[in-house]
Amino acid sequence: MYRTVTCGELRLADVSKTVTLAGWVQRIRKMGGMTFIDLRDRYGITQLAFNQGTDAFEQANGLGREFVLQVTGKVIERQSKNPQMPTGEIEIDVQELNILNPAVTPPFTIEDETDGGDDLRMKYRYLDLRRSCVRKNLELRHRMAFEVRRYLDEQGFLEVETPVLVNSTPEGARDFVVPSRMNPGQFYALPQSPQILKQLLMVSGFDRYFQIVKCFRDEDLRADRQPEFTQIDCEMSFVQQEDILNMFEGMSRHLFKTILNIDLPKLPRMTWADAMKYYGSDKPDTRFDMKFVELQDIFHAAEANKAEEERFSVFANAAYIGGICATGCATYTRKQLDQLTDFVKRPQVGAKGLVYARVEEDGSVKSSVDKFYTQEVLQAVAKEMNAQKGDLLLILCGEDAMKTRKQLSELRLEMGRQLGLRDPKKFSCLWVIDFPMYEWSDEENRLMAMHHPFTSPKPEDIPLMDTDPASVRANAYDMVINGVEVGGGSIRIHDAKLQEKTFEILGFTPEQAQTKFGFLMNAFKYGAPPHGGLAYGLDRFVSLFAGLDSIRDCIAFPKNNQGRDVMLGAPGLLDPVQLDELQLDVRKKPQA
Ligand code: AMO
Repeated sequence: MYRTVTCGELRLADVSKTVTLAGWVQRIRKMGGMTFIDLRDRYGITQLAFNQGTDAFEQANGLGREFVLQVTGKVIERQSKNPQMPTGEIEIDVQELNILNPAVTPPFTIEDETDGGDDLRMKYRYLDLRRSCVRKNLELRHRMAFEVRRYLDEQGFLEVETPVLVNSTPEGARDFVVPSRMNPGQFYALPQSPQILKQLLMVSGFDRYFQIVKCFRDEDLRADRQPEFTQIDCEMSFVQQEDILNMFEGMSRHLFKTILNIDLPKLPRMTWADAMKYYGSDKPDTRFDMKFVELQDIFHAAEANKAEEERFSVFANAAYIGGICATGCATYTRKQLDQLTDFVKRPQVGAKGLVYARVEEDGSVKSSVDKFYTQEVLQAVAKEMNAQKGDLLLILCGEDAMKTRKQLSELRLEMGRQLGLRDPKKFSCLWVIDFPMYEWSDEENRLMAMHHPFTSPKPEDIPLMDTDPASVRANAYDMVINGVEVGGGSIRIHDAKLQEKTFEILGFTPEQAQTKFGFLMNAFKYGAPPHGGLAYGLDRFVSLFAGLDSIRDCIAFPKNNQGRDVMLGAPGLLDPVQLDELQLDVRKKPQA
């Protein structure tokens, strides 16, 4: 036996037992006649004590960080106890030391507070994963995936694996493709999600399907996006939206309870239209309020009473004027307000400027547009925004209401951050429902499916498909936690005629629809049950539970911002022989 106990389990009650441990040297402290070593494994750290005069002491003095050891000794009570460590009351009086493997000095210290920068840690990710703070995220990920399986199994779901070498799936991102040696010139695509396959499984009668599955999307990376990520992908037959929301609210409740011991209240539901109106985002962070208040009526009425030359043209010409009330922020200095103005003017936000108003202690309102508006108008604004003495009002305007709302949303999140209202340990979950079916794409110059082309319209909106398709709402829903879209799905179309109609609205000719989705439409001819489902992003779910800013740290081997795995050196060049086999000749073309 290599070990009788792990480095995380010994306590005072074990004193005087003889034990064998194995692990890595975390730290060595030489103190005259004694040498102490912190021995680490997956379970914790145990202090080893070596006494001068023993063979083990001589050996211990020749060890370095990250050497792999096996030690046998007696558990003794420590003289100076360490209450920070679970094993901090004991140490091992080592009698026998066996060096299982030496180690070269690691490129960074393997401790929670490390001196290793991001790039270095990613290059040596296998060493980074030895750090307990990183390891804990993977342990959490395991437990969450395990509890998901437990819950779904109890609800009668079957986990079915779907292929990774498939055709393009219509989720709207670019595909990663794989050349086929046996079919020269042809390519597989890696699935962006198993969407079509899970719908086919419904046709097959697997009425409760799930899969914890890798998905691949060639899109620009962000903190919550990786080119390969994991979905908890689910589909059910003979259900309506209500059944799905209840089932998966149940799953989230199970996860919150078993993992965090939090009793999740019934999730509120917000329509997409309200989410945009009050938060400027389809994934509102509802940990704090600071809802948008629309002010165009007040300001436009004020403008109407003025002579042309006295008008504040910026507001007079704005289709939308909206504000947020930052409680207690009237004390913001000029410098802080300038910083907020710079923030909204950054290209990522894109506002032209910021108007602000303070509600002073005497109740008067002092604003950056005082010369254009009477105190009466400003008071009306403060009242509309329910502002109290000491509050700061931040106002944006623009010609395009949606664009301006998105800018105001960025400002709201920034204020939430500055005011400490976005505590990662607090959770606020909701469903956003009634998404629009279609959204206009300037790039493609046509309506596109907001979710995907198989999402069904709300029955009452079906007549609008002929008259005003852009206003049709879908039976689609997202679960949002703390401003993060953790999951989303829809009730699918199972009626061939309706499916044809939506393809037509999306601008596909019947031939194009046939080529792209013919096999699905064909399968539906053999009896498709009413069905619907959703998929969660497991990485996002775990990172929320772990309180992380990025999903990278809950993925064992993530890609960097350029989509590279710097440890493996992927992507890399192919051997010319492989290229020949695949009948791909990339050498002729200049590489981008
Ligand atoms: P959707 O595209 O909304 O829906 O994806 C579902 C969930 O997957 C997560 N996600 C990602 N996580 C990390 N990196 C990415 N690049 C990434 N892209 C998406 C998000 C998102 O909510 N087939 C449909 C689901 C359905 O209709 O059943 C789908 O894939 O958390």
